[in-house]
Amino acid sequence: MTLWGGRFSGDQKKELIEFTESVSFDKRLYRHDIAGSKAHVEMLAESGIIPAKTAKSIKTELDKIGRRIESGDFEFTSELEDIHMHIENALIKSLGDEGARLHTARSRNDQVCLDIRLYMRDETLAIISGIRNFQKALIAQADLNSDAIMPGYTHLQHAQPVLFAHHLLAYVEMFDRDAARLNDCLKRINVMPLGSGAIAGTTLPINRRKTARILGFREISGNSMDAVADRDFECEFLSCLAIFAMHVSRLSEDIILWMSKEFSFIELADAFCTGSSLMPQKKNPDVAELSRGKTGRIYGNLVALLTICKGLPLSYNRDLQEDKEPLFDSIDTVVKILAVFPPMIATMKIRKDRMLAGAMNPGLMATDLAEELVNLGVPFRKAHGKTGSLVKWCEKNGIPLDKVKLEDMKKIIPEATAGCTMLFDPGKSVAKREIAGGTGPREVRSRLNAWKRKLSK
Ligand code: ARG
Repeated sequence: MTLWGGRFSGDQKKELIEFTESVSFDKRLYRHDIAGSKAHVEMLAESGIIPAKTAKSIKTELDKIGRRIESGDFEFTSELEDIHMHIENALIKSLGDEGARLHTARSRNDQVCLDIRLYMRDETLAIISGIRNFQKALIAQADLNSDAIMPGYTHLQHAQPVLFAHHLLAYVEMFDRDAARLNDCLKRINVMPLGSGAIAGTTLPINRRKTARILGFREISGNSMDAVADRDFECEFLSCLAIFAMHVSRLSEDIILWMSKEFSFIELADAFCTGSSLMPQKKNPDVAELSRGKTGRIYGNLVALLTICKGLPLSYNRDLQEDKEPLFDSIDTVVKILAVFPPMIATMKIRKDRMLAGAMNPGLMATDLAEELVNLGVPFRKAHGKTGSLVKWCEKNGIPLDKVKLEDMKKIIPEATAGCTMLFDPGKSVAKREIAGGTGPREVRSRLNAWKRKLSK
């Protein structure tokens, strides 16, 4: 019989049981469910609502149940609907009436919110530390190849030379914002909802702050109706993961391009690639491709949850049980990405020669010429126009920019000096960009060192 058996007659249909159950996926909350229940009975005893002796036996028994679940010696059945009912049922089975006191002043509506919040607190911290680890792998590669120069792209067209380290550190910045967003989200996760009951709190003299203190929550929820209906913290968390996945997807795309024959900027270790069942020569960047692809489900999970919450009247509605699979799926997917991406980055080989060859195109330094003309007193718009005319002249005459003689240059740009003919070196080009946030080697080195300091803390 179910735990609400008092009001119901007749057995439930198998189809209904299968349709309504959540234990098949919410059993992963068991540790947090037990931690929440232990804190709850401790508070109930201290508030004089249940005997201290009962609280003690419940806590001991809950630990035993936890160990049984851990070791696989625990039977799950759809009949008992969810993880909360399973644990309470097992408790009552062993302790009888003493166990029947656990659910005092509590509803599954506030209990499930508590469990998810406890679970998400742990997962958020683990993901943040995974992101830090990811950043470290990027920083190590940047450090190892701090002198590598590559063509920088806009519109996927050669733009200007940049340091490869600068490119990698751009992702370190993105991941830092991801970690900061998750840290901020943690404030909204870290709110204790228990005591909200089903919707209207309880008539019993509980001490919610006590429960919060035991469980390490900073705050308690301020409105019982909001507390049981609120999944904002999950929406926010899933959007943090969606943005993170978008960043991983962009990095994946860079890696996939770099690994193509046409670029050949990098080589990935065999361990992170797979072959083709047909074409013997193939070596594919599957980790990057799959991470890019998995971004789709991570976005989908966010949209699923937003859609579940939209249009729900206050307060708890059973729809909210549908929050868990998208939440768990995004967490699992991100955890998997965080497990494979850092070692793939760490073992990636850089082809500096190929990168430099790409950056040798003198056209990439056309802006440097325009800026040199600014140094010589030409207004930028005019300098830009004159440089453009020179580029056109070069194309027409089949002469590369770096091979133009000063006298020819002067015909188009009368202000040109000998220095203007010596700008077409990617090394010089990056070296001149020592502004804050720029790709100058000293600036990049100082950012690199700053990241190392930040991440070693
Ligand atoms: N399994 C439910 C969920 O995940 C727990 C809360 C159920 N509450 C209820 N009144 N049926 O949302």
